[in-house]
Formats: sequence, structure tokens, C-alpha cells
Amino acid sequence: MITDSYGRTISYLRLAVTDRCNLRCTYCMPEEGLDWLPRNELMTYEEMLRICSLFVKMGVQKIRITGGEPFVRKDLLSFLKNISRITGLQELTLTTNGILTAPLVPELKKTGIKTVNLSLDTLDNGRFIQITHRNGLNKVLATMDKLLEFGIKVKINTVVMENKNIADIIPLVQLTKEFPVSVRFIEEMPFNGSSHEVSLSWDYLRILKHVREYFPSIVKATDPPHATAYHYTIPGHKGNIGIIAAYTRSFCGSCNRIRITPTGILRTCLYDAGKLNLKDALREGKTNEELQDLITNAIRKKTQNGWQAQNMLVAQHRQHESMATIGG
Ligand code: 5AD
Ligand code: SF4
Repeated sequence: MITDSYGRTISYLRLAVTDRCNLRCTYCMPEEGLDWLPRNELMTYEEMLRICSLFVKMGVQKIRITGGEPFVRKDLLSFLKNISRITGLQELTLTTNGILTAPLVPELKKTGIKTVNLSLDTLDNGRFIQITHRNGLNKVLATMDKLLEFGIKVKINTVVMENKNIADIIPLVQLTKEFPVSVRFIEEMPFNGSSHEVSLSWDYLRILKHVREYFPSIVKATDPPHATAYHYTIPGHKGNIGIIAAYTRSFCGSCNRIRITPTGILRTCLYDAGKLNLKDALREGKTNEELQDLITNAIRKKTQNGWQAQNMLVAQHRQHESMATIGG
């Protein structure tokens, strides 16, 4: 088991396999995209597999594959199959924007993946184009249908943005009446890959108030341990609602997660500057024991919360990253 200096056990690893994406969500990256990382700066699948196996030996139970958009990386499915075979791994999950995913769902099912997080900020075609700068809402919805058809649980990630998708909050809640999906409204965070500042006008309390006005019967449900979402149910709905205070950071006390960026940097907080270059350590020929020591030491430096981590980032003048280079 790995614990940090505040006694939190680390059991959840989020691994970003690419910074590239086939969408350009405004809250994540500029319309022209990012300066994509050269291939040799990304970890290879072999390197990622070795790191993941090591983390599982050290106590990680759950791995989420993220990006960028994971499916724009070649041969992702074979990689997922290999990861799913790591002895001791209890849960493998994935976050995708659903553009390329629908036809791959049957194969995805075979990897044993039980839940997929689908990014979807609107149910309106025009607003989808405004937000993502691409066409493709029908593909995302087809992915949702396919996942449900194959018995894979769907969590929808919706970033709530003033002047962009407020009109979608209620229709997305309504989606949970018919479909057994969990719709999770996320506070917008400052990781948009540009110096465009985020002033949070829709925090979790305002989102909740808005939903409650339309659905007064909404009730608080129990939150699983380490959950980042506050869960709610609406009587008669097949699905449920989550609200994630990603900006407010009210859940850091029970944080069990670490991240690996596409370039192999270990980040012990979404808001930190990176604590260890795992890719370089691997390429220098470090043994598993040496890596384990480096990782244990890096995790001891995990800050108490995201505000502390962010203050350190500001001090180093390293703000304005994109969620795609950190790992969504
Ligand atoms: N703020 C909040 N959530 C974000 N995501 C990406 N960028 C941001 C941001 N700036 C989330 C989206 C997407 C996932 C990959 O990361 O919900 O579903
Ligand atoms: Fe792509 Fe996800 Fe970023 Fe949107 S939020 S641009 S889907 S990586």
C-alpha cells in the first residue's frame, strides 16, 4: 500500500495515453489545438504496461485510461487488453469523447471494462459544434447507446459553462429518466491550454439549486468512498445525477488518486506541477525497486489539497495547461 504524508492511501491511477484529440472543447484546448507532443516524448505501451503493473503491485486497485482522446492513439484496444490482464487490478475504466468509440464497444466489452465515462456537454447539435468546434453529437449518442446495449455502465461528464450549455442542464437531467446513466455536472477548471482565465460562475451549489428548481423531488444519495461527485437521485428516474466540485475542491481530504501524464510525469494532484519523470527513470534503466522508491518518495510530497498544489504551480509560473496534457 502507498500512503501519503496525510495518511491517504493511493489506490487509483489515471493514465493519459495521448495529448491528442479529435475535438477541441473550449474548456480544454484552443480551437487550433495544442502543440502536440512528438511521439518519442510519449511513453510506449510497453513502458506504460510496466509502470501500471508496478503500481498495482504497490496497491493501486483501479486504473482509468484518459487522454486527450485515448482512441486516437493507435492500437489502444490491444493495450487495454494487456492492462486488463494485470494480476491484482480490480477495475479498469476509460474516459472517452465517444467520437470513435461506438464500433469498438463489443471489443471493449471483452476487456472486462464495466464503466465508461463519456464526455458530453450538450444534447443540442449547434451547441455541440460551438463547444467542441467539431460535428459529432450523433456519434457520441451512438456510443452511449452501444455501451448501454452491451451492459457497460455510462457516466456522462458535463462541464457546466455560463453562456455555453446552461440550457442543457435540465435536458441532461431528463436523460436520466429514460436511460440508466449517471450524469455528472462538473465545475469548469482553469485547464484550457490558454491564458483565458476561468471565473467560476456555476459552482456546485448553483448547479444543484438550478436542478432542484426543476426537480424539487431530488434527493441526496450516499456517496461512495473517495467519490469526487455529490450524488443525487430523482424518484422515478433510472439514472442518477452527480455534481463534481472540481474547481471548489471540496473532496481533497479523501483523495486516493494519482495521475500519469502522456509524457510519463507522475502528478500527485491535478493541480500540481508534476513530481517525478517516470519515463526518464525507465529509460535510464532503473530497476523496479528503484522505481518503487522514487514513487514512494514522490507520493509523500502530495499536497494536502488542490489549493496548496495550485499555489506552488503559480509560484513556478506554470499555469494554463490543458486537461489533455495533464490527463482528463
Ligand atoms: N474543466 C472541467 N473539466 C474538464 N475536463 C476537461 N477539461 C476540463 C476543464 N477545464 C473534463 C471533461 C472531459 C474530461 C476528459 O475532462 O469533462 O469529460
Ligand atoms: Fe478532447 Fe476531451 Fe479535451 Fe474535449 S475535453 S478537447 S474531448 S480531450
